[in-house]
Amino acid sequence: MRLLAPERVLTWTLVIASGAVGAVHLAEPILFGHVVDALALTRGGGGHGPLRYIAAWSVLGVFGIAASVVLSVLADRLAHRHQLNAMQNAFQRAIALPASYHTGRGSGAMMRSVVAGSEAMFWIWLTTLRDQLPAVFGILLLVPAGLAMDPRMAAILALLAIVYTASNVYVIRRTAAGQRDIERYQSDVSTRMHDVIGNVSIVQSYTRLLAEQTAMRELTAALLRARYPVLTFWGVLTVLQRSAATLSMVAMFTLGAHLVKTQRLSVGEVVSFANFAALLIGKLDQVSGFLARISQLLAPVGSYFQLLDERPNPVELPNALHLKQVMGAVRYESVSFRYGEPGKSQGVSEIDFEAKPGQTIAFVGPTGSGKSTTLALLQRMLTPSEGSIYIDDHEIRTLSLTSLRDAIAVVFQEAGLFNRSIAENIEIGRPGADQTAIEDAARLAEAHEFILEKPGGYDFIIGERGAALSGGERQRLALARAILKDAPIFIFDEATSALDVATEAKIKRALDQLRRGRTTFIIAHRLSTVADADLILVLEHGQIVERGSFSELVAQQGLFARMVREGGFNVPEADTESAPVMHVAHSR
Ligand SMILES: Nc1ncnc2c1ncn2[C@@H]1O[C@H](COP(=O)(O)OP(=O)(O)OP(=O)(O)O)[C@@H](O)[C@H]1O
Ligand SMILES: [Mg+2]
Repeated sequence: MRLLAPERVLTWTLVIASGAVGAVHLAEPILFGHVVDALALTRGGGGHGPLRYIAAWSVLGVFGIAASVVLSVLADRLAHRHQLNAMQNAFQRAIALPASYHTGRGSGAMMRSVVAGSEAMFWIWLTTLRDQLPAVFGILLLVPAGLAMDPRMAAILALLAIVYTASNVYVIRRTAAGQRDIERYQSDVSTRMHDVIGNVSIVQSYTRLLAEQTAMRELTAALLRARYPVLTFWGVLTVLQRSAATLSMVAMFTLGAHLVKTQRLSVGEVVSFANFAALLIGKLDQVSGFLARISQLLAPVGSYFQLLDERPNPVELPNALHLKQVMGAVRYESVSFRYGEPGKSQGVSEIDFEAKPGQTIAFVGPTGSGKSTTLALLQRMLTPSEGSIYIDDHEIRTLSLTSLRDAIAVVFQEAGLFNRSIAENIEIGRPGADQTAIEDAARLAEAHEFILEKPGGYDFIIGERGAALSGGERQRLALARAILKDAPIFIFDEATSALDVATEAKIKRALDQLRRGRTTFIIAHRLSTVADADLILVLEHGQIVERGSFSELVAQQGLFARMVREGGFNVPEADTESAPVMHVAHSR
């Protein structure tokens, strides 16, 4: 309801219209009773006849219809507006949350929180405003009206209302746990579906169609099994409520017959009461159905608000410094970071090094040694558990996130492309960049030529994660995007996949262009990139085990020298001229 605060006028209009609809619904049975009594009198030759009641009824009818129309149009608009707002808010929150949160929950579950949550709220808003509010008004008005007419008959109605309410509350309580299970299964289904559809080529290539179908069927069967007991409860409730309704009708007619016989009530009044009862039962059924649905929607709404309550991490200090001119000096002081709980988890520890403005630092080391992790810390994608990182002598935690992230252009190991056009993907580097700037960046990244060969050129839509491009093309687009960003610090996390000699040479050329005049960190899998670095850091098991220039490291005869000797690097173009690339045939 707090969400409705900005729309006070609209909300009041809705409340008043609901009141009007409720009142009209209530007036109808009263008029009906009067018409019956008037008809009886007319038959006996007396009275004014039912005409004025019928006239009043028509006027009320028109009024009621008008109020209903106002109500449903306004409620519909308001609910749609709020649904989209709710979705927007959740989306906004979701994309601000750290990648680790997304990894933990899975994108399917995230999507479900956003979409199912806001749809649930849409339904609640719409039906509350359009149907339930008038129903509740109607029920509230029925009580005094009934009491005024005959307290004995009204008591039966009151009893009925109590039975409805109590049984509803009971069933909602009893099914709450089951409902939470259902939501968990539903979230699992979403997560799995997202995962499988996202990996459809693997599913087909590994002929997993049947296996995935079966797994999904098992999951949905579990969902259904969780749902059955809850459905049974609601089914039993309906039977109970219907029986109570029938019983109360019978009781009312019996009592009514007796009261008419003893001349304490007119036939018209009994008719009014019967109509009251029918009206009340209708409204109670409506509210009861609404509550049943609400109890199903509580879980998605809950997970929606849980998402909204997540605080984005890392937090920015209130007086964070907005770094304007960045020279590009970077210093790590005993930086450690652990994934997951301490003890058996992985990460990096005691990372110490310094990069002067304009230098190139290369990170090498076996796969999983912590190279990507080390550099993820620089943009605060992860926050160190110990130690500090400085840019131009500012501890990065004291900087505003925007200025920190603006100062660093990253080519990630996975290109990370959007299902948009090539131009739009590059433009992310510098929003608002014109076509010339985009093309220049693409040229520098050696991507311009392949782009022109695509249908539509720069307007070519590259598919989810760039699925319509080759690995090398994806990497060059990511490079073009970073080039366009033109930041003082540059991180290049080389894709591990080997590229052909020509493409590799192209990327190397682009890299050399880009390195000029900025601090560059390269996670290298190729000898050529390492050779030019000012400093090479060799990582193993999350620690720097060797450091120095290429020749120093080779002379040390340690891990680096071994990696070079044993072909731990992809040998670049120049070195392959004398020794042609060997294609090893793997035999099973
Ligand atoms: N989100 C994560 N949660 C838990 N562990 C992780 C996560 N990301 C990486 N790791 C683990 O941390 C270690 C370091 O990973 P990192 O990605 O930094 O390696 P890397 O040196 O970049 O390897 P590669 O050369 O294969 O890219 C690995 O053992 C990896 O499994
Ligand atoms: Mg990596």
